[in-house]
Amino acid sequence: MNAEGGRISAVETAPSLPDGAGIAVRGVEHAYGELRTIERIDLAVEPHGVVGLVGPSGCGKSTLLELICGLRDPLAGAIEISGVGDSPGRLARCAYMPQRDLLLPWYSALDNAALALRNQGARKGRARERAAALFERFGLAGFEATAPAELSGGMRQRVAFLRTLLAGKPVLALDEPFAALDAITRAEMQGWLAAALRADPRTVVLVTHDVEEALYLSDRVAVLSARPARIVAELRAPEPRAPDRDGAVTDPDFVAVREEAMRALREGMR
Ligand SMILES: Nc1ncnc2c1ncn2[C@@H]1O[C@H](COP(=O)(O)OP(=O)(O)OP(=O)(O)O)[C@@H](O)[C@H]1O
Ligand SMILES: [Mg+2]
Repeated sequence: MNAEGGRISAVETAPSLPDGAGIAVRGVEHAYGELRTIERIDLAVEPHGVVGLVGPSGCGKSTLLELICGLRDPLAGAIEISGVGDSPGRLARCAYMPQRDLLLPWYSALDNAALALRNQGARKGRARERAAALFERFGLAGFEATAPAELSGGMRQRVAFLRTLLAGKPVLALDEPFAALDAITRAEMQGWLAAALRADPRTVVLVTHDVEEALYLSDRVAVLSARPARIVAELRAPEPRAPDRDGAVTDPDFVAVREEAMRALREGMR
């Protein structure tokens, strides 16, 4: 796999991407029946901005992401993507990668990834060819014909992530995209995603429980409280000075912001 600094051409992952989309979340509230999950959240993501959402387990991160994507509607407040507020309109602009990969079990790894291109009207052969060209970079070379059930959890997650990138949507909504990966592969994939987004910018909302990952990949990180989630801190991630991930996350400025985020997280859990 080409983890960091690899040449990633925009053309490979983005056939005909629309211009960047901004996201506006205003006064959003949500509950599952009696269970209050989101308490008055305001959040803005500029076009091609990357915002990380971190928060304690069960606080409502996935729910908030589903609300943004148009998979749910808020009880109160409004969510707009490129000024479009209705849920089908939001859904049409988002490529959503759920926390649990939803690969089609009867499709091979390659066909699962290529599905994103088929959905955009690409012919089967061409879709497979374009998806296959990215398999090596995703550490999936040799597993094209393998069924999801026979892949490791990390590999399934990478197939799902590739499919998300290939969907050609301006917004990527990623729910713990690297949670199933071992630490080394995870660090490599973070470096890879950072490089991919530099080459092929998207507006990204990234849910993760990993503060370091959020700060490394995002421009801004919103720290959520325990349920019902509210934003307890919004931190700007320092510009990475080192070209590589490991250098970036050990930079003193980075470490200072990470500590601040950890403090906010602890406060929000009380
Ligand atoms: N469809 C649902 N119906 C009812 N309750 C739900 C539903 N989905 C989630 N919940 C509950 O809502 C709360 C928030 O869930 P959510 O999945 O958004 O949290 P999360 O922050 O993503 O958690 P995790 O860190 O475990 O991924 C949890 O208490 C969860 O049990
Ligand atoms: Mg979740």
